[in-house]
Amino acid sequence: MKKELLYLSQADVKAVGLSMTEIIKALEIAFRDKGEGKTEVPPKPGIHPGGSDNFIHAMPAYIPSMKAAGVKWVSGYVNNYRRNLPYITGLLILNDVETGIPTSIMDCVWITAMRTGAATALSARYLARPESSVVGILGCGVQGRTNLEALKVLFLLKRVMAYDIDPEAAARYAQEMEKRFDVEVIHASTPREAVGGCDIIVTAGPILKKPHRTIQANWIDEGAFASLVDFDSYWHPNALRMISKFCTDDTAQLLHYKSIGYFEEIPAVYADLGELVAGKKPGRENSAEKTMAVNLGLAIDDMAVAPLIYRKALEMGVGSRLPL
Ligand SMILES: NC(=O)c1ccc[n+]([C@@H]2O[C@H](COP(=O)([O-])OP(=O)(O)OC[C@H]3O[C@@H](n4cnc5c(N)ncnc54)[C@H](O)[C@@H]3O)[C@@H](O)[C@H]2O)c1
Repeated sequence: MKKELLYLSQADVKAVGLSMTEIIKALEIAFRDKGEGKTEVPPKPGIHPGGSDNFIHAMPAYIPSMKAAGVKWVSGYVNNYRRNLPYITGLLILNDVETGIPTSIMDCVWITAMRTGAATALSARYLARPESSVVGILGCGVQGRTNLEALKVLFLLKRVMAYDIDPEAAARYAQEMEKRFDVEVIHASTPREAVGGCDIIVTAGPILKKPHRTIQANWIDEGAFASLVDFDSYWHPNALRMISKFCTDDTAQLLHYKSIGYFEEIPAVYADLGELVAGKKPGRENSAEKTMAVNLGLAIDDMAVAPLIYRKALEMGVGSRLPL
């Protein structure tokens, strides 16, 4: 029998037009299944060509209820910007769960950007105050954009405080996001301005093994929720100690990173996202708690989304067929 797979370029993946709402919904199913012990998501192995700040990770996952199985092979190269190349690049392979046969190869950049924002929003659904309306974004790049897009799906946002170490990046972001999402976006000139007074804070600058500890304990308002897309790089340990519910997407993965030198001074993990979504542990319980999610990124995020893209692409006739 002649076997074929569907190849989807980055443009094809985008052209399929999966919405952030659909992506958040898919992640919710995946994390509920994870919380109920129904997924397979082994810790990601990595290689580090050219130094430990670069990575290429293999991220396999199986989500039975979504008939999703496959692997993402994703790289992050810290100096790519010097060559005018993106930080994150990579591919994702989907397999047929019945036969194991590869059905699709697709670019994973768009999926990575979107699912990471969706993971923030999903965490916020359980950990932020439902009436949250002011968001602080520190790091106005790809993640700064998709995290805001995802939060906009679940919260009635009024104002965004946007800070970037590069003022031009923050100004571009403010202009673009204001137009796109019809919210007021204020270009914050210091990190403190983008933290104080916010209901939700997203830090999305570079990941550092040794945090620069900029955000201090007394900057965070009562009742705030923070999503640390860039690990604990931005946070002073005293600020982390003020958090009543410190959560992550996978406790084993966080502890693994701790064992190799990251997260030296973090509080104990209260719950992982699967436990929150499956109702095994309560999320926010009052309006005063300060809560936090450090989602390091899990293969089930990607594997929840990729089959939806594959199926829509088949329906729409998007992509190129390649012989196996
Ligand atoms: N947790 C996850 O699942 C996950 C997934 C993808 C990316 N990430 C991480 O998210 C971070 C952002 O990724 P991206 O794709 O948006 O990168 P990006 O290069 O598109 O954007 C990063 C932005 O941060 C700015 N910046 C640099 N230092 C800063 C500082 N100290 N304060 C404020 N802004 C600063 C840069 O000027 C840039 O605008 C990276 O650390 C990346 O590793 C995490």
